[in-house]
Amino acid sequence: MFRVWDISLLICFSVSLMFVGVEGRSELPPPMNLTFKWETPFTLNLTWEKPKDLDPDCKVNYTVCVHHSQDCSVKTKSDMQGDKRSQTKRVQNTTCKFNISNENGLCISVTVNPETCENKNHSPSLDISLPPPTVTLVTNRSYEYSHNRLKCTWRPVDVVQDLGFYYWSPQKNMVIKCNDMTFGECVIHDALLKDMTSMFYLFNGTYNGKPVNNTFMDKRPAQYVKLNKPQLTIQKDGHNLRFQTNKSDLDEFGPHCYIYKYKYSKCDKIEPEKEVIEDNKYEVDHDSNCKYRASVQIIFSDKCGAGKSDPSDEVEYGENRDAHLPALLAVIIIPLIVSCCLIVSLVLLRRHKDIIFPKIPEPTLIFKDMLINNIRMPEDLRSPTDGRLYVPIEEIVESKISLEPETPLVPTTANAGIKNSDD
Ligand SMILES: *[C@@H]1O[C@H](CO)[C@@H](O)[C@H](O)[C@H]1NC(C)=O
Ligand SMILES: *[C@@H]1O[C@H](CO)[C@@H](O)[C@H](O)[C@H]1NC(C)=O
Ligand SMILES: *[C@@H]1O[C@H](CO)[C@@H](O)[C@H](O)[C@H]1NC(C)=O
Ligand SMILES: *[C@@H]1O[C@H](CO)[C@@H](O)[C@H](O)[C@H]1NC(C)=O
Ligand SMILES: *[C@@H]1O[C@H](CO)[C@@H](O)[C@H](O)[C@H]1NC(C)=O
Ligand SMILES: *[C@@H]1O[C@H](CO)[C@@H](O)[C@H](O)[C@H]1NC(C)=O
Ligand SMILES: *[C@@H]1O[C@H](CO)[C@@H](O)[C@H](O)[C@H]1NC(C)=O
Ligand SMILES: *[C@@H]1O[C@H](CO)[C@@H](O)[C@H](O)[C@H]1NC(C)=O
Ligand SMILES: *[C@@H]1O[C@H](CO)[C@@H](O)[C@H](O)[C@H]1NC(C)=O
Repeated sequence: MFRVWDISLLICFSVSLMFVGVEGRSELPPPMNLTFKWETPFTLNLTWEKPKDLDPDCKVNYTVCVHHSQDCSVKTKSDMQGDKRSQTKRVQNTTCKFNISNENGLCISVTVNPETCENKNHSPSLDISLPPPTVTLVTNRSYEYSHNRLKCTWRPVDVVQDLGFYYWSPQKNMVIKCNDMTFGECVIHDALLKDMTSMFYLFNGTYNGKPVNNTFMDKRPAQYVKLNKPQLTIQKDGHNLRFQTNKSDLDEFGPHCYIYKYKYSKCDKIEPEKEVIEDNKYEVDHDSNCKYRASVQIIFSDKCGAGKSDPSDEVEYGENRDAHLPALLAVIIIPLIVSCCLIVSLVLLRRHKDIIFPKIPEPTLIFKDMLINNIRMPEDLRSPTDGRLYVPIEEIVESKISLEPETPLVPTTANAGIKNSDD
């Protein structure tokens, strides 16, 4: 920065020396009677006169410069720095127009340039300065553009009853009033907003009994694009996880204007942000042992303007799981659980065996009896419980009554069996 500044100074100095050194070179006289007129609140008409005493053979043209500052002493400096806050034109006529705001006051300067003059340098400049408005009616202006609507908001500096808010429509060449006004805010509805290259605004009103005009120049509406908060969905697609944005209002400009900025974390680890242009989908490898959290934000590409949406709500997918858990489960935990169950069931079995296996020794006894040496009869019937259970069997036993001779052995076995089950 400083180097450029130094070099510019050096060049200026050398050039001046060169001209001073050239014999017979003289400056042209400056222009005369520079006047201005606001044709609209945004259009400044400048007129001036050709210098007097100009050689009739000498053809000249003019450089007109407008700086956004009342102070003309800083204009040279801002010229050299290529200040964006100044506009310069070169014209042959003695009049020209500027589209400009009065926000900070203006310094206007006109110089005469030789076109076909012998040995002449450009003239010193003729300057006039316009003061800024006596009162600034509003501050902190901001804008939001979407679908042919431009919402303008501001902070009023003081109470102005008849505050009016206007904008300049170049296509219609008109100053149009914004009627959709509430306190500190007005919405402009205009289908031509999208194509505007810059915006001119006027706030006017009566302050302390005097009319006041405040004009502002601002960037085109496409620099203030406001997009709706998007919605994100996460879907599984084969081995991938697909983040997809619900395109709700992304149709006003070309698809290349919208950038989808996906932010996500995987297993609580934040992954690098991913910006996708045009396509509203983004896929990542899916790790089924991880929980994913994702959100999306729409950025309006700087190729088309500027702006963004709010970030979407965060969406979650899956659960964090230990990847070694299934193996661990198989090797350690399952056998452990099985053994526990086994032990518990054994204990329970032992403690409650009377309930689980009620004392019904009879069938076994009978089968045993039958297997070992078959029938007896009167002995068993002696006990009342046994008797009831054996009622249906009696018939079978009866058919084998022929075996009765062996009954002497039965009592001993029957007694032993009953004794055992009593333990
Ligand atoms: C132009 O300015 C000169 C003096 O600078 C003055 O005598 C003359 O009347 C002015 N002419 C007009 C048309 O204003
Ligand atoms: C404000 O602008 C209007 C319309 O261009 C103009 O008639 C009026 O003189 C201006 N007032 C001030 C104080 O600049
Ligand atoms: C100069 O002014 C004349 C009339 O005043 C106009 O016809 C002409 O177009 C203008 N030329 C330029 C370059 O502005
Ligand atoms: C500025 O206004 C004057 C009349 O006041 C007019 O003759 C001239 O053509 C205007 N300049 C431009 C560039 O329109
Ligand atoms: C003004 O004159 C210069 C030569 O000194 C020339 O280069 C330039 O093109 C001229 N500009 C206009 C608008 O005629
Ligand atoms: C403008 O707004 C910002 C914050 O939004 C605030 O800090 C600043 O003071 C405001 N300026 C004026 C002049 O109100
Ligand atoms: C001023 O703006 C209008 C509308 O954008 C345009 O038609 C006109 O040419 C501009 N004039 C100047 C001198 O830049
Ligand atoms: C504000 O400007 C508009 C457009 O120039 C004008 O019609 C209106 O009368 C002005 N209002 C005040 C209070 O100056
Ligand atoms: C997108 O969002 C809108 C509003 O939130 C909803 O009505 C619409 O069904 C959604 N579309 C899809 C494809 O999810």
